[in-house]
Amino acid sequence: MPLRVCVLGGTGFVGHALVKRLAAEGHSVTVLSRNIALHPERLLPPGVMVRETNVYDPDGLQIQFTGMDAVINLVGILNERGDNGRGFRRAHVELTQFVVSACRQAGVRRLLQMSSLNAGRGRSHYLKSRGDAEAVVKASGLHWTIFEPSVIYGIGDGLFTRFGQLLRLAPLIPLARADAKFAPVFIGDVVEAFRRALVGPRSVGEVYELYGPDVFTLAEIVRMAARQLGLRRWILPLPDALGRLQALAFDHVPGKPFSSDNFRSLLTDSVGGIDGLHRLGIEPTRVAKILPDILGHADDKQARYARFRARHG
Ligand SMILES: NC(=O)c1ccc[n+]([C@@H]2O[C@H](COP(=O)([O-])OP(=O)(O)OC[C@H]3O[C@@H](n4cnc5c(N)ncnc54)[C@H](OP(=O)(O)O)[C@@H]3O)[C@@H](O)[C@H]2O)c1
Repeated sequence: MPLRVCVLGGTGFVGHALVKRLAAEGHSVTVLSRNIALHPERLLPPGVMVRETNVYDPDGLQIQFTGMDAVINLVGILNERGDNGRGFRRAHVELTQFVVSACRQAGVRRLLQMSSLNAGRGRSHYLKSRGDAEAVVKASGLHWTIFEPSVIYGIGDGLFTRFGQLLRLAPLIPLARADAKFAPVFIGDVVEAFRRALVGPRSVGEVYELYGPDVFTLAEIVRMAARQLGLRRWILPLPDALGRLQALAFDHVPGKPFSSDNFRSLLTDSVGGIDGLHRLGIEPTRVAKILPDILGHADDKQARYARFRARHG
């Protein structure tokens, strides 16, 4: 049965793939965005309605949620201004409180909440606020489902695509927490997990860890990306003392490509315990199958161009 679904954070990497899939299945999808103009590259597929909304206004949220069958909260940030946890609390915990109360007021029972593997563990503000947001959802009295992914990969991701860009520019990559482990999960599998949970009543009250079958260290991920691009690069693992200094320096770079809080998150390996994809009947996708789609083959045009640019600036 087609559902009316409202998505927060639907203009991002995950959101774009998810709303496309839900719309293709015939669901009526409304995306709430703080600023549509900021996302020209992420034009949403036909059939998806976008409404510019202050998502931190509970009354506005209630109006948008009225008449919906389900709300999906994908909002998340990797970095905040400063390093005191306030930005993470606002985007993860307070926003979730507003979403929960607007759901109740608008009579929406179903809430799908994006979280993160290791939510509530470790020492980073990011993971702590994720855990606190989960506690809000679990105490909501709504029909909730929580998703905890490791790092998500796919075309345009923040992992292989981002390192690919860096590798094209720099012959040497000094890497903090190079031994940190990840079990990357394919965006297609994440989307499928949300889709199945949305339509399957058995997922109510469940937390699904989403992770892939391959476990890599950060250094292995960067080396894999370099190999795929056919680039020879020197990956320099930094001891933690230097990694902390690197993070401190990046804290002051606009856009924070890396931060002290990221460093603290990386102290906890992002590998799973109970396989949520299998629990949902999804066979996880291997990285090797998708990597050429993300970075191209070492001998194809895109990778040759990357090598040309790397050589000639
Ligand atoms: N990508 C991954 O590897 C990964 C791994 C684990 C968990 N996750 C979680 O999955 C969710 C989606 O990830 P993503 O990669 O799609 O992120 P993304 O591309 O950064 O998109 C997140 C969306 O959230 C909204 N947003 C950003 N900052 C916000 C703020 N301060 N307050 C309110 N809304 C804000 C933005 O929408 P508008 O600008 O349109 O409002 C943005 O499009 C996030 O919660 C993320 O933490 C992602």
